[in-house]
Amino acid sequence: MIKKIFIVLLIAFIVIQFIHPAKNQSGGDQPNAIAKAYPVPHEVADILKVSCNDCHSNNTAYPWYNNLQPVAWWLKSHVDDGKKEVNFDEFASYPPKRVQRKMLEII
Ligand code: HEC
Repeated sequence: MIKKIFIVLLIAFIVIQFIHPAKNQSGGDQPNAIAKAYPVPHEVADILKVSCNDCHSNNTAYPWYNNLQPVAWWLKSHVDDGKKEVNFDEFASYPPKRVQRKMLEII
């Protein structure tokens, strides 16, 4: 019985490896990137790039384990949640009130 359950789980694990969610990688120029509308010092740009943009931009640098399911689905939902809150590649299109609120949250 346990052997059968193990085999079913193993097959399910192998099958889900073929179902990939779309990657958050749009590439190219981002016309609404934060730096297009607001001055972003080098140090801050570096922090955003290294620590924030994977979840808060239109381009995620994925770790190797994003090739494993169900990890990729979990990462996708995390990136989607992050982008919904604040997307530094869409920041220039935010209305002033939202910019103010996001700046305060970032602090
Ligand atoms: C691993 C993914 C990830 C990284 C990296 C990340 N965030 Fe987030 N961030 C999220 C998620 C997901 C949310 C949605 C809030 C929640 O559900 O906790 C969020 C929410 C936010 C919010 C909304 C307010 C709040 O506190 O909930 C701000 C602002 C924010 N992040 C800024 C940043 C900044 C600045 C960095 C870099 C220093 C950063 N985040 C790095 C995933 C991430």
